[in-house]
Amino acid sequence: MLSILVINSKGGSGKTTLATNLAAYYASKKILTAIMDYDPQGSSIQWLRVRPDDAQKIHGANAAPAKGAVPLRSTHAWVPLETEIMIIDAPAGTKGLLLQELVRKADFIVIPVAPSAIDIHATADFIKELFLFGGARTSRAKIAVVANRVRNSASPVYGALERFLNSLKLPFLARISDSENYLHAVEKGLGVFEMEAAATVTERQELMPMLKWLNGQFPNRFAARLEDKVQDLEGSRKFAAFRTGMQNVTSLITTGKFRNYP
Ligand SMILES: Nc1ncnc2c1ncn2[C@@H]1O[C@H](COP(=O)(O)OP(=O)(O)OP(=O)(O)O)[C@@H](O)[C@H]1O
Ligand SMILES: [Mg+2]
Repeated sequence: MLSILVINSKGGSGKTTLATNLAAYYASKKILTAIMDYDPQGSSIQWLRVRPDDAQKIHGANAAPAKGAVPLRSTHAWVPLETEIMIIDAPAGTKGLLLQELVRKADFIVIPVAPSAIDIHATADFIKELFLFGGARTSRAKIAVVANRVRNSASPVYGALERFLNSLKLPFLARISDSENYLHAVEKGLGVFEMEAAATVTERQELMPMLKWLNGQFPNRFAARLEDKVQDLEGSRKFAAFRTGMQNVTSLITTGKFRNYP
């Protein structure tokens, strides 16, 4: 089982939005998917409750600690043995033992960040906490950051965060727009990949860099079911190689160096 942890201690950064869309995407590819909701607000579990009967099933595990209990009570939550991908929706304010527990469970950590200076500052602090006390430094988990609720994709507000991430060698994967389609999807218990394709072109496209990053880490694992994506990647790689080759040839021709080659 692969597990994808969606986390940021900052509230309202888009954890549940990303977690539910990831779960819906993998389920729609017929991958056995579970969502583990660690948030006492239970937003992901609520999303599952309104999920239509004809949508691919997603197992929901309520891992939120009971009121007054210590976070380790969460070990009572379970997912079916045959689960292939587990998405973990973390609560706001995660730190300490719960943070360490979640990082230990994760193969991938996706951190959504909203575009305000306050959010970006809090996220940089959270990433430091993740490495210094959360165990990310020694864990197997691969980590990436996703900008969420972006209104102006040319906005310079992410510059400082991008520089900080570069210094840590963490990828900044995608810019997800502030779109009503995410609100409609949540209301219906769906992900944008399960909604009408023509109405969700932008959302599908903007989620692709994150999905390609994730799927590229386990290229053979769900080969048949994620085949179209693998072929896409393969195709774009071949095309990139072809294009580079063509550029080299063009430059050799225009600089007159071509005749030096057999
Ligand atoms: N890209 C988006 N476009 C439009 N609305 C969004 C987007 N992302 C999130 N929202 C909305 O912003 C609010 C907060 O998002 P969400 O619940 O996903 O954040 P969260 O990090 O899970 O919050 P919490 O920390 O409370 O668990 C929700 O009302 C959600 O529908
Ligand atoms: Mg949430």
